[in-house]
Amino acid sequence: NNDQIIMGIETSCDETAVAVVKNGREILSNVVASQIESHKRFGGVVPEIASRHHVEEITIVLEEAMKQAKVTFQDIDAIAVTEGPGLVGALLIGVNAAKAVAFAHNIPLLGVHHIAGHIYANRLLEELEFPLLALVVSGGHTELVYMEEHGSFKVIGETRDDAAGEAYDKVARTLNLPYPGGPHIDRLAHEGSPTINLPRAWLEEDSYDFSFSGLKSAVINTLHNAEQRGETIDPKDLAASFQESVIDVLVTKTVKAAKKYQVKQVLLAGGVAANKGLRTALEEGFSDVEGMKLIIPPLSLCTDNAAMIAAVGSVLYEKGKRASFALNANPGLDI
Ligand code: KG4
Ligand code: ZN
Repeated sequence: NNDQIIMGIETSCDETAVAVVKNGREILSNVVASQIESHKRFGGVVPEIASRHHVEEITIVLEEAMKQAKVTFQDIDAIAVTEGPGLVGALLIGVNAAKAVAFAHNIPLLGVHHIAGHIYANRLLEELEFPLLALVVSGGHTELVYMEEHGSFKVIGETRDDAAGEAYDKVARTLNLPYPGGPHIDRLAHEGSPTINLPRAWLEEDSYDFSFSGLKSAVINTLHNAEQRGETIDPKDLAASFQESVIDVLVTKTVKAAKKYQVKQVLLAGGVAANKGLRTALEEGFSDVEGMKLIIPPLSLCTDNAAMIAAVGSVLYEKGKRASFALNANPGLDI
């Protein structure tokens, strides 16, 4: 049988995930054990708790993924694991699990960059066509990535301070919303209207960089000032105004970069890609742009998962790349 079967393993943050992907594009299984409940009461991910959960879950999740995919270790051509970036203790669990299985069953090992994974989640929907532009928006990253071919990533713009998801989570915390705050702000934003004037950080004329910390501070100041004046601000309107500001900058810069680089495809990637407002605004932004296809993954492939890691692994495997058993967690890995 000539099918290529890749197992993906992802443990960079608070999701223990294992998936099996056939021929780089077909998901046979995609199992995710989320730890959100354990981190919620701390208002964010606690690294030590994350590592402990990964240790407890990894074997169960791995067995479940193999069971659902109906594969044995003999069927697997390679094991692709997230080597970075992420929390070092969390990454280590995935990397060591991958190494152990690869060693025990004599299966090739591949190291994958987490953000490459988010981008390749799109290949599980549609074959990639180059050149392409990916807008990567997650809890740790906000980047515009230009790709000329498989495995080539050029960051043409990135955040100078907070990531988009980080801004969402921080604003949510000031509004006393539970962690992770993104989905809550998204929901509130749709119930309110963007009546509060908040800044947009366009930066230099030709820059594709982003900045969200000023906006975050403006939200906090707006709340504090109102409180001091004894006024109340409707959190729905504040959420709507914040969301409009974030989306305005993200969409405008993405459309501008896509036109400048004359790309064939525009991909949305990362946890914030689950944002309903962003999805709609991007669709509108590209509706009148000729010859460019916008691809937006379903929610389950936007947040952390291992199918996206296997999707990158498929291309690396094809290219003959192999990691040695010296593969290590690299929390600051460059794309
Ligand atoms: O990609 P991801 O699952 O993990 C990282 O690699 O960071 O992204 C998580 C981030 C969190 O900041 C979360 O608040 C945000 O994605 N997020 C959202 C939405 N759903 C998740 N942000 C805005 N709107 C959403 N609907
Ligand atoms: Zn992620």
